[in-house]
Amino acid sequence: MDIIYFDNAASSWPKPRLVSQKVAEAIQEYGANPGRGGHQLSMRASKVIYKTRVKLAQLFGIQNPNDIFFTMNATMSLNMAIKGLLKNGDHVITTTLEHNSVRRPLEYMKKVHGVEITYIKPEKNGFIIEEFKKAIKQNTRLIAVSHASNLTGMIAPIKEIGLMAREYNIPFLVDGSQSVGILPIDVKEMNISLLGFPGHKGLYGPQGTGALYVHPDLQLEPLLHGGTGSHSELIEQPETRPDRFESGTLNTPGIAGLLAGVEFVLNLGVEEIRNKEWELTTYTLSKFEDLPGVEVYGPNREKERVAVISFNLIGMDASEVAYILDQEYGIAVRSGFHCTPLGHETSGTAETGAVRISYGYFNTKEQVDQLIIAIRDIQEAMLEG
Ligand SMILES: Cc1ncc(COP(=O)(O)O)c(C=O)c1O
Repeated sequence: MDIIYFDNAASSWPKPRLVSQKVAEAIQEYGANPGRGGHQLSMRASKVIYKTRVKLAQLFGIQNPNDIFFTMNATMSLNMAIKGLLKNGDHVITTTLEHNSVRRPLEYMKKVHGVEITYIKPEKNGFIIEEFKKAIKQNTRLIAVSHASNLTGMIAPIKEIGLMAREYNIPFLVDGSQSVGILPIDVKEMNISLLGFPGHKGLYGPQGTGALYVHPDLQLEPLLHGGTGSHSELIEQPETRPDRFESGTLNTPGIAGLLAGVEFVLNLGVEEIRNKEWELTTYTLSKFEDLPGVEVYGPNREKERVAVISFNLIGMDASEVAYILDQEYGIAVRSGFHCTPLGHETSGTAETGAVRISYGYFNTKEQVDQLIIAIRDIQEAMLEG
């Protein structure tokens, strides 16, 4: 049975062929430590890493590639941003749709450092910008918002929030986990001060890759301290970027694969990817509308969202539906609470969880048709059973 993979919001798969080739090439042909030696192999590794920074900078309108720091995943990037910026008594505005990788570090900072948090809840079809404005206090030090929800696909009005953040001179952190490579992002135009993102989702890189962009004027404490291959005589972490935020040996093979993924996205263009995913999303939503007994969460059908759709079959447990889809139809989806318990409260699925399908560039309408047939079968079997 061929697998139909509808779990791209967790990690994209399959990857463009060049991604695994470039990972293998890095291991086999120049497996040296980047930035730690002046020899040819080390220089080759360093060049690949720098080129990846340059391509990421191109994708997000970032002026200086050295303001991008490589991490292991979005979680690490978001922790670096939140813990590096906030101090005792600061106030943060965030939303009820955040992933645990934003919410947990914030709640940690609340417990240990007395940081205050205001959660903004969206309406059914989106956020009201005034709610963010009303929440601003004198000690507001950060606004942290996920560009797109990993539960319902809802897109936040990043540009408007960014404008407001600039007006009040408050740093603006965007979690780009569900939007990088999928929605256009320009850090300057959107006034994004910090962008945390994974390499292994919409950028089609390998797992174990991610990055954080930090505006050059923003001072951040590093989360990790250690060897950077530079200024080794200093006891303290060097000030220069990116070294200040990249202690320890980087994941050169992963970053080499990420470079191939980012080039894939740049060559196709984000618009082309977005159009394809949007087409699959609206196609699925219209098919779901014709199916009785399917409850879909999130914004109305005509509203923009990324290619993430959460639903339940009335009368059935979400995990059972996911299990049957996987075992009997070879369709890989995710069920449960998707690391966002507050998001489920917001969607009214705190008790039940939901089944989530999420598309990538390689999915097709034919695969969606197979999902719809499988759901019909499952519903019929339930009624008969
Ligand atoms: C919105 C959002 N933020 C953060 C993350 C964490 O990403 P990572 O697994 O790369 O740490 C995810 C992962 O699903 C996500 O969907």
